[in-house]
Amino acid sequence: MIFGVGTDICDVRRIQASLTRHGERFAKKILSDAELATWQRRSTRHGDRGLRYLATRFSAKEAFSKAIGLGMTLPMTWRRCEIASLPSGQPVIILHGELKTWFAERGLSAHLSVTDETDYAASFCVVEK
Ligand SMILES: CC(C)(COP(=O)(O)OP(=O)(O)OC[C@H]1O[C@@H](n2cnc3c(N)ncnc32)[C@H](O)[C@@H]1OP(=O)(O)O)[C@@H](O)C(=O)NCCC(=O)NCCS
Repeated sequence: MIFGVGTDICDVRRIQASLTRHGERFAKKILSDAELATWQRRSTRHGDRGLRYLATRFSAKEAFSKAIGLGMTLPMTWRRCEIASLPSGQPVIILHGELKTWFAERGLSAHLSVTDETDYAASFCVVEK
């Protein structure tokens, strides 16, 4: 059965403004270690791809936080919710630490879809029990 759904739209220009203001510290607050490595790789090759990657992660994590009904309150944190990709490109959520335990204890599984276009990134998440 469906446990929850969550959606989020993120203004890429706001992510850019946070990056300009706080630099890498902002990315380090939002991204897991694995995501940070991907972000650094993409940013080095092409700044815009790094920015879009960060914006889609931001929106996906917010959508997930809504789907589980916690919002950004413990045990949900930005860095404990990692968005990875299958070889096909489909996004998958990998949880860490206390959030992983909380999620597993409830017998939950998550489905995620993300998209972005020019100034916006958006995500939709369904969590099943
Ligand atoms: C969910 C959250 C991450 C979204 O924040 P945001 O990016 O500022 O706002 P968005 O426009 O993307 O989303 C807001 C909507 O998320 C939804 N939402 C809020 N808390 C939620 C939760 N715990 N679970 C699911 N959805 C939630 C609401 O529908 C809200 O719209 P509304 O204010 O019109 O009712 C953030 O509100 C949050 O962490 N909330 C929970 C913790 C909290 O601070 N609660 C305040 C209690 S006084």
